Amino acid sequence: MAARRISSLLSLSLASSSSLLTKGRISGVVSSYSTSSAVDNPITPSIKVDYTQLLINGNFVDSASGKTFPTYDPRTGDVIAHVSEGDAEDIDRAVSAARKAFDEGPWPRMTAYERSEVLFRFADLLDKHTEELATLETWDNGKPYEQSAKIELPMISRVIRYYAGWADKVHGLTVPADGPYHVQTINEPIGVAGQIIPWNFPLIMFAWKVGPALACGCTIVLKSAEQTPLSALLAAKLLHEAGLPPGVLNVVSGFGRTAGAALSSHMAVDKLAFTGSSATGKIVLTSAANSNLKPVTLELGGKSPFIVCKDADVDKAVELAHFALFFNQGQCCCAGSRTYVHESVYDEFIEKAKTRALKRSVGDPFKAGIEQGPQVNRQPFLQCGRSHVKLIPMEMQCCHTDANAYLNQIDSTQFKKILGYIKSGVESGATLVTGGERLGNKGYYIQPTVFANVKEDMLIAQDEIFGPVQSILKFKDMDELIRRANQTRYGLAAGVFTNDLDTANTLTRALRVGTVWINCYDVFDASIPFGGYKMSGQGREKGVHCLSNYLQVKAVVTKLKNPAWM
Ligand code: NAI
Ligand code: MG
Repeated sequence: MAARRISSLLSLSLASSSSLLTKGRISGVVSSYSTSSAVDNPITPSIKVDYTQLLINGNFVDSASGKTFPTYDPRTGDVIAHVSEGDAEDIDRAVSAARKAFDEGPWPRMTAYERSEVLFRFADLLDKHTEELATLETWDNGKPYEQSAKIELPMISRVIRYYAGWADKVHGLTVPADGPYHVQTINEPIGVAGQIIPWNFPLIMFAWKVGPALACGCTIVLKSAEQTPLSALLAAKLLHEAGLPPGVLNVVSGFGRTAGAALSSHMAVDKLAFTGSSATGKIVLTSAANSNLKPVTLELGGKSPFIVCKDADVDKAVELAHFALFFNQGQCCCAGSRTYVHESVYDEFIEKAKTRALKRSVGDPFKAGIEQGPQVNRQPFLQCGRSHVKLIPMEMQCCHTDANAYLNQIDSTQFKKILGYIKSGVESGATLVTGGERLGNKGYYIQPTVFANVKEDMLIAQDEIFGPVQSILKFKDMDELIRRANQTRYGLAAGVFTNDLDTANTLTRALRVGTVWINCYDVFDASIPFGGYKMSGQGREKGVHCLSNYLQVKAVVTKLKNPAWM
């Protein structure tokens, strides 16, 4: 289903003309875009922002401090709304509510089928409110509205229905132990789950976290990302409308180092689920260990290879590689951000990848046919000199003992970070084939950028850029390719483009990653487990695998007297 929708997005992007973008001349190897028609005069969204407070114990409330923070429209840098800013005290209130709802409330005590009914009703409400939710998502994040409404919202309600279906199918085992014992296992909800989500897919991350936790009977404190707090508040309100008892899901908007830190170190939280950067993943894992040793699942960064083999149909490979990298403005943990192309088709591939990038329609994400909106950013646009950007070498990111200090050093606004990596690509000797510049002079738009002649030791081949920057590398033989593709601290995903079954099978087993997509990419069906090897994370989300994150296994051993059989 998701696969079909994603491929329909692919064809949609293929079919869309770039009429909203006035393509510029190509000067030397670097193309330039004229931007006025693309990014000026942003469309005013047709909805009001109704929910900006914290959601604690079933009520929308102000933060204890009374503080708020602005959330911005990445198209302009203008403030959309001021949102209550939760910190440690609010996390404490939310955890108390979740604790009480778990220890004394109806949610873990109702039948599994009753829980599934709430989730099914929630999915129906998500479908009913698609327009409103998709508008908030695009406004706050900058992703194309067509993507929010036609691809993401259907995926979100599908995930909720998938886990609604699981609620009454969580079985224990009868275990054939030695001795006169009847041994059974009971799967119990783990308790209060703390969930910290990022800004790149705010509602999808909400659904991936909340769906399995609720199906298992857990209660939740969820901290949304400070860049995109709006959609989670509306979704949580709809979940209450669907019949969720108060205190079962609490949503605290706020910053990582205050609210996020308080949640991951809280002594009354039984489990933590985190999606975001590997650097912050280290911090939350440490906080969890240093507090009550709560188990942690981590879905972190990636530098996923997309491999174009020598037998590939180059046109199709270019299109899929383009989609694998540029989808969602390149802001995907599993972006195919190292495009490996066999030497026999390399030159042709570069030329066509450039043509495709130049055709990409960039502009106001509320306009029809737009493939790429602005990058997310949590600050209004400041003077952006590329030279202001300071990059940290990968060794420091990998081995830095104080990840907080590392985070303080980089300019963490996405927009500047991406331009900084582009600069580093040029300086390290990669060939800038197209793009490389900011688009327009308002908001956070960046030209679709393609680098050729990228080498493994360049930062752009090692670090997660999280932007519309494609790095293309050349390879010769399979052994060398496997070694190079695995030569990264990440291991989230890989794409393989080939018609040769043996090549596909060899790569599938050799690549040290959590997902291999063969002749497809970004297929995110609710039933498919997703997660990373190495520094891309721990544990799996989605699918049946995710349920175990929210369950404890209790063994019950009963002595048998005169059993008829063993
Ligand atoms: P981040 O990992 O710092 O933020 C993700 C979430 O963690 C947010 O809700 C944030 O408030 C929270 N957080 C931050 N510091 C925390 C702390 N000390 N304790 C607890 N929670 C904390 O990522 P950020 O700064 O938004 O983006 C930086 C880079 O991270 C991106 O450029 C990208 O490379 C990567 N990233 C990866 C994502 C993925 O899907 N795996 C999603 C978002 C970012
Ligand atoms: Mg925003």
